[in-house]
Amino acid sequence: MSTWFQNDEATAFSVAHEKTFWEYAGQDPRLNNLFNETMASESILASKLVVSKCKGIFDGVNSLVDVGGGLGTMAKGIAEAFPHMDCTVFDLPHVVSDLQGCKNLKYVAGDMFQAVPPAEAILLKCILHDWSDEDCVKILKRCKQAIMSEGHQKAGKVIIIDMVRENQNGDERSIETQLVFDLAMMVAVSGMERNEKEWAKLFFDSGFLNYKIHTVPGTRAVIELYP
Ligand SMILES: C[S@@+](CC[C@H](N)C(=O)[O-])C[C@H]1O[C@@H](n2cnc3c(N)ncnc32)[C@H](O)[C@@H]1O
Repeated sequence: MSTWFQNDEATAFSVAHEKTFWEYAGQDPRLNNLFNETMASESILASKLVVSKCKGIFDGVNSLVDVGGGLGTMAKGIAEAFPHMDCTVFDLPHVVSDLQGCKNLKYVAGDMFQAVPPAEAILLKCILHDWSDEDCVKILKRCKQAIMSEGHQKAGKVIIIDMVRENQNGDERSIETQLVFDLAMMVAVSGMERNEKEWAKLFFDSGFLNYKIHTVPGTRAVIELYP
């Protein structure tokens, strides 16, 4: 595998199935449902944690788009905690087109490589670890356009929830989990888990000027990113 990861071959998943993971999910309802449900149950805990431990990051935010937000579990938790906030779950058509919004939550289908709906805050939870550096820069540039769109009084921010390798308290189990995820991202999709230096390079390459990492319980971190 180490040889595989260091050459230009497609991911192991793409070689086995002759399509990317996302293309496969779009054509196979069983995998689509299984994956979306898995991410949704994972997000129940994450949404509770973020709205309680990192409440301050949502101060003054009136609109939020959860890019690649899946079934919307995370956005629902935020929409309930902040009823004044307009929340949008943005994901591929095979994920969101049959879903109904409610109150301050709506679903929009689209491709984040093409455009991201404008908002004061863009959330990216477990998204960038799915992609190569080159693709992450493309996604982050789209997010930057979305938070700097006309009609907003000030530029907004991007909120990233993902692992920052080597950022945790160093307990063996957390590091082991981060490394297993790193491997899984390289096998299934064209991504990886990143350390702070690697994240910072992505941010500056996409035209952002400032970032702040918040450590939260568990293996992931919350990163605020400013243009
Ligand atoms: C690892 S899941 C994360 C889901 C959710 N953010 C969470 O943490 O529970 C990645 C999500 O990105 C979505 N996605 C993949 N490619 C996309 C694209 N080009 N545009 C929008 N969403 C995309 C997938 O459909 C999937 O829901």
